[in-house]
Amino acid sequence: MTSKIIPVQPFDAVIFGGTGDLAERKLLPALYHRERDGQISDPTRFIGASRSKMSDQDYRTFALNALNEHIGKDELENDVVENFLSRLHYVAIDATADNGWDALKSLLGSANDESEVIRYFYLAVGPSLFGNIAERLDRFGLISPNARLVMEKPIGRDLGSATELNDLVGQHFREDQIYRIDHYLGKETVQNLLALRFANALYEPLWNSAHIDHVQITVAETVGLESRVGYYDRAGALRDMVQNHLLQLLCLVAMEPPASAEADTIRDEKLKVLRALLPIDAGNVQKLTVRGQYKAGASAGGAVKGYLEELDGGKSNTETFVAIRAEIQNWRWAGVPFYLRTGKRMAQRVSEIVINFKPVPHSIFQTNAGRPVSNQLVIRLQPNEGVKQWIMIKDPGPGGMRLRHVPLDMSFAEAFNVRSPDAYERLLLDVVRGNQTLFMRRDEVEAAWKWVDPILQSWEETSQKVKNYRAGTWGPSASIALIERDGHTWHEAEEE
Ligand code: BG6
Repeated sequence: MTSKIIPVQPFDAVIFGGTGDLAERKLLPALYHRERDGQISDPTRFIGASRSKMSDQDYRTFALNALNEHIGKDELENDVVENFLSRLHYVAIDATADNGWDALKSLLGSANDESEVIRYFYLAVGPSLFGNIAERLDRFGLISPNARLVMEKPIGRDLGSATELNDLVGQHFREDQIYRIDHYLGKETVQNLLALRFANALYEPLWNSAHIDHVQITVAETVGLESRVGYYDRAGALRDMVQNHLLQLLCLVAMEPPASAEADTIRDEKLKVLRALLPIDAGNVQKLTVRGQYKAGASAGGAVKGYLEELDGGKSNTETFVAIRAEIQNWRWAGVPFYLRTGKRMAQRVSEIVINFKPVPHSIFQTNAGRPVSNQLVIRLQPNEGVKQWIMIKDPGPGGMRLRHVPLDMSFAEAFNVRSPDAYERLLLDVVRGNQTLFMRRDEVEAAWKWVDPILQSWEETSQKVKNYRAGTWGPSASIALIERDGHTWHEAEEE
């Protein structure tokens, strides 16, 4: 397979929070990879902006350390690194005051010219600064006609705060200039889900309640708090992972076929799914949701502390695990459960979507042939991206008719021998391309909060406590009970 690398138009990317964790771990390495693949054209510049005083040279050293830390040695090429570093600049800027904005303006140049250079502002900072930054970008005349604004999550902590944030930035940027990142949408296999569903005639006729028994979406992590105590304890797994990543995956699985791959056509369909979710409230929250919190155990190859110990012995009812039985109330999906689960410090790092088809209506085989097992489509997002379609075959060789459940296995790394790009690599350049397909529109974010808010409120109202689970397991036993009540079991992820 030949990979097609098409350079993008030159751009100036201003990264607010340019010395922060996201810039260091994800954004700078992602831009380097795109540089290495020859996708960045001159005179593109990457401009770090944050409060600390630093020279361009200091910022280049910071970036070099980030590359050394987060990129494999075999992928670091001297001339590419040099070229990449030469694009870096730095401006010390205060988001909450007027210092530094003139310097940014003189670096970027006039906002009104017919510049071919796309300008984008990446908000890799806490949401409390979004409004301040958008207002100053506007007041200092930095928003060129082709400017874009990229927002990182969390976009609010409930519907009210999300609406307020969207209103704030909306005073300065049009909706078509705003790119709300959900990095799960940039993952290779997530896009493959679109190809699988809509570039094959095979699945779509079966993609409904007549043929699909239930769907499972699991995003399990082995990491714990990772020095994000302050943020995480106020958020919890429902806000941190379900409101965005898991619901976005659910939308892509469940949406109607869009008429085209246009951003808004796809986003219209996703929105309809969010709006059709069965509301969860105080009446059904105990039955449909499980909250968990890890205690000490073993994860990622060693003994680890419990959540409360990570909080230095503090008290907390924040969930680090959540499982939900969701339903979509429309013709296609009526009665089909969508089980969602996500958690920190789980047995294994794995993200996958499992589509469980209905059993055959009648088996023609004798009982000693074995019972036909239902077909299953497993879409593995990470690690080891790939798709497995489990089918029944006759066990090869002599011995008569014996049925066997086997996967048609497509591991992408093995099949194509290509490096799977990090989600940010695609998303950072989609902003330049002006392609919003993999970004969340305002109404989607708000619709997701509209479904999540009553769950949060009902947890409070019904005082639903977190159930403990040992670090390194698959979550509290109540999560197993949640799915077993319907006669199903969680799909056992294969080991890496
Ligand atoms: C982030 C969450 O959005 O996604 C983190 O805030 C989580 O808590 C991360 O660890 C998971 O992303 P990935 O790409 O590592 O699966």
